[in-house]
Amino acid sequence: MSTPDLIEPEDGNKDDNLGLYRRATQNGAEWWRVSVGDRPETYRLEHATDDDENGAGSVDIDLVVDAENLRAKLKKWRREGFALERDAPEATDTPTRIAFMPELQRASARMLAAKLRDAGNADAGLGSPADDASAASVRIGNVDVRCGSAHPLVPRVNPAYLFPARFNDIVADIVENRRVMLIGHTGAGKTSLIEQVAARSQHGVLRSNMNGQTTVGDFVGFWTVKGGETLWVDGVLPTAMREGLWLIVDEIDFAEPSILAALTAVLEPQGRLVLKEKGNEIVAPHPAFRLFATANAVGAMSQFRHLYQGANLMNEAFLDRWRVYLLDYLLPAEETDVLIRTLAPHMTRPLATTLAAIAADCRAAFAREDLSSAFSTRRLLDWAELMLRTGDPERAAGPAIYAKVSPEDAALIRGIIRHHIAPAA
Ligand SMILES: Nc1ncnc2c1ncn2[C@@H]1O[C@H](COP(=O)(O)OP(=O)(O)O)[C@@H](O)[C@H]1O
Ligand SMILES: [Mg+2]
Repeated sequence: MSTPDLIEPEDGNKDDNLGLYRRATQNGAEWWRVSVGDRPETYRLEHATDDDENGAGSVDIDLVVDAENLRAKLKKWRREGFALERDAPEATDTPTRIAFMPELQRASARMLAAKLRDAGNADAGLGSPADDASAASVRIGNVDVRCGSAHPLVPRVNPAYLFPARFNDIVADIVENRRVMLIGHTGAGKTSLIEQVAARSQHGVLRSNMNGQTTVGDFVGFWTVKGGETLWVDGVLPTAMREGLWLIVDEIDFAEPSILAALTAVLEPQGRLVLKEKGNEIVAPHPAFRLFATANAVGAMSQFRHLYQGANLMNEAFLDRWRVYLLDYLLPAEETDVLIRTLAPHMTRPLATTLAAIAADCRAAFAREDLSSAFSTRRLLDWAELMLRTGDPERAAGPAIYAKVSPEDAALIRGIIRHHIAPAA
């Protein structure tokens, strides 16, 4: 096939008009992709929008045009604010490179359609007998989560909890029974994300913190003597596996090697636990069992290891058995909403906006290492609540913030607060 003669070459490169033309929209971005058409002298144009609610959009317009038509389109897009995304200069766009994303989008759309069809079949009673089509489910973000049943360990729903669209992938992983590890700073919302999914879908949650006295006995189980009888007591892991609970292994980067070894066995979705101490009894996972881990200083967070003293590096083979998500603090606009919803009806938007901005500044100072203490959403909510009661941000900051940090940090935070809040006249 002859190379099509491309229009208006700017610097002699014939592929100059090929590529992705993008413009920002209110909720995300909109793009046109120009690639080489199947026939000579033609161009394929694909259009899609990516927005917060629906994530990466699928292609909604897909057409083939000639060079003259393309020229007109390019002019129109330029007027509309679309700009060609330049790639690294050395990367000349090969056809496979350009074809990858549209190809992937088609494959992904087919997979989604197949999933919907399967779900439809199950609803119509066409699923395999093992499918319990009558089981209730609840929608979290854009994901349907199968409900469990009432259990004393189901967490309480926090009605003020916010599920931003970026959590959808995590919720989908939970549904698919993937092992999910959430990494991020203290108070970024790792534990509460799992708990709030569990609360809404009625699954009991067990937590086990590795940064403390948790022994392999607590985790896996141990023998004990009671009334002259020797009894086996299941640890949290077999308990969760047998009862179909969700187990959160908090601060997994502090776990002892023997606990990690026990965990490794159950990292595969159907992975079974062998209780060596109990005559090699095998524990198979209940279908509702889910396993989560949280960590502060693993992987993409390892640059902050010195802030979380004693954390272990996790080896890559172990990490590869997890989907690892980096959870950052909520954005100021999201945290503003959480403040208003949590402290309704007293918290007003102007107050909440200022408080969220103070939290954001404190976190920026922490990231620059000017501050040595993290500023969690929990701390912000607590300070705000006390401030409403006392009517005095400075007095409220005493027990909610200053007393918990070093005098240097307290002075710096006080400065940030003063920067945002002028003293009462
Ligand atoms: N998306 C959210 N919506 C509402 N509140 C949140 C959200 N994320 C975090 N929080 C608040 O922040 C607090 C701290 O989160 P937590 O899950 O304990 O953090 P981590 O486990 O990362 O240390 C929670 O108790 C909750 O009140
Ligand atoms: Mg936590």
